[in-house]
This record gives sequence, C-alpha cells and structure tokens, in this order.
Amino acid sequence: MTRTETHTVSVGTDTVQCGPDQAILDAFLRGGVWMPNSCNQGTCGTCKLRVVSGSVDHRRSPDSTLSAAERDAGFALACQAAPCGDTVVERLDSAPAATVHALRDLVGTVSGIENIARDTRRLLVTLDSPLEFSAGQYVELRVPGSDQGRQYSMANSPSESKVLEFHIRRQPGGLATDNWIFGPLSVGDRVDMVGPLGDFCLDTDDDGPMILLGGGTGLAPLKSIAAQALRATPDRTVHLYHGVREEADLYDVDLFQEWERAHPGFRYRPCLSDQTWPGRTGYVTDAFVDDFDSCRGYSGYLCGPPAMVDAGVKAFKRRRMAPRRIFREKFTPAV
Ligand code: FES
Repeated sequence: MTRTETHTVSVGTDTVQCGPDQAILDAFLRGGVWMPNSCNQGTCGTCKLRVVSGSVDHRRSPDSTLSAAERDAGFALACQAAPCGDTVVERLDSAPAATVHALRDLVGTVSGIENIARDTRRLLVTLDSPLEFSAGQYVELRVPGSDQGRQYSMANSPSESKVLEFHIRRQPGGLATDNWIFGPLSVGDRVDMVGPLGDFCLDTDDDGPMILLGGGTGLAPLKSIAAQALRATPDRTVHLYHGVREEADLYDVDLFQEWERAHPGFRYRPCLSDQTWPGRTGYVTDAFVDDFDSCRGYSGYLCGPPAMVDAGVKAFKRRRMAPRRIFREKFTPAV
C-alpha cells in the first residue's frame, strides 16, 4: 500500500510529522526525538513500542521479531511501522533519553580505499557537510543501482566529523562488498548515506575504566569509542581486545601500539583464535577472563558476531561487571 498523507506521531510531549511511507523511527530521529534503536531492519526488537491511539501499518515487520499476538496487543516496531493516521505511541523501556544527533541524508566523496587486512578494507568518505554523531554509531550506505543499504560503524572519533572511516569485510557474493566496495568503487566516487543511527555509544557521563572487546571489523566502533574516551581523558584506563582468526586478519596494530606509548592507561590485546603466534591465542573472551579476576567498577563495550558478543556478556558478568555498564552491538546480517 502506498500512502500519500502525512500524519502526526507523538511520544510523551514530543510530536513529529511522519511522511507517506515513512517509518515512525525515521520520523522521530529526523525530528531530533530519541527512540531506542539498533538494527533498523526489524531484526533486533530494540525499537518495539506500544501504540496508544491510532493505528499503524506494520509493513515488513518480521513475525520472528513481532508476533501476531503482539500486533493484536498493540505493539509495533518503530523502524518498520508507518502510521495510518495521527498516532500516539509509548516507549517500552525506562532508559533516560540519549543524546540525539538528528538523522539526515548525507552525501560524500570517497577519499581513500585501502586494503588493511585479509579481505578487509578501510574506506574514507569526505562528507559535503560535517556529521555530528556519538562514538559507536553507524550510518547506512546506499548501494548504487539497488534499493538497498548496508550499515557500517564509524571508526573515527566524532571530533573528526568531516571524514568518516569505515572498516569493511568482504562477503563472498555480497551486494555491497564483492559487487561494489571491493569492485568498481573508486576514489572520487560519490556516496549516498543516511545517519547517524544506533544506540551503541560511548557513555560520556562516565570516565571510569573500560574494557572494549571486538571481533573482526567489530573493532570499528570500538576504535571510535577508545579515541573519544582518550581524547577526553588521556590517562583513562582502556583495555582494547581485538579477536580475529589469524595474524593476516589484524589491522591498525601499529596505531594501537602508538596509543599504548602515548596513553599510560591504554592496553591493546590482539588475540588469534586459529593460529599460534608469540601473542595471545584462543578466543578473545577467554583472554579477557584470564587477565581479570574482577572488573567491578569497569564499563564494557562489545561488538562483533552474536556468539562472541553473548560470550563476552557472560564473561563480563562472571568478572562482576554491573549489567547496566555492559554495552553491546551484534553484527546483524543484511535483510
Ligand atoms: S527491530 Fe527496530 S531497531 Fe531493530
């Protein structure tokens, strides 16, 4: 169904206009109103809300994330649902509203493409106008010639708001990787994006010790978080663990070793799961457990494949990290 009318959508004291075929979440974020969100493709359930009055078209909300019983009970996914008339919704979470950097359409020019590890590229995009974002957030790159987008976290500090850095792992046959970023994409090409998105962000109210645990290109948002944290508090205790399969998959090693020399509280721990070498071997979560008897008082940030993130959450709790101090982002396959 294609809608033509604009409707109002309200949450608490905030009201925004929602255009034809626009998702409620998109309307709120573009209007500068915070809503919890993570995957923005209907798979994580983070944006689930309750429709208090009015009605919505659930559009492509998957049954696995929003059951028929939930729909009947008035629940909806903000990242998928569009209002059918003026609508009032309420958030299900009790978390305080986070900082909102208004969502917007972005255009930039590719200013760097570099092979940094096996099947991994660093992509630099210089924006036409700077982007305000929180360390840990991502943007969605529009794949040319398709109606699809792919999500990549910024690896640069938010203080460098004109040039975005992305770490991209090749997916065999991938629409965005094999067919574009590892194919015809060249320096000078124009790139359309939308962002910033996601709630996986550095908690800027906290300057306590932190542990960052990333798998593969899950390093990207952690690099941004570490850079921002060390910029604010240069002697802050930051332990960065990077888990990959083999040494050929590691990248930015020299940079992190340089950070170790420049920041007395920064520790970099690369870990290989499938290769013996002079450094740490095994799963990155096990390396963390071996290193810490207790991490009470620490914050933990995790990003990578779902199994690694789940194992990391368990490891953090085992070492007495407060659950509310654990922040996580799982790779979600493109829908
Ligand atoms: S399901 Fe909406 S943000 Fe993940």
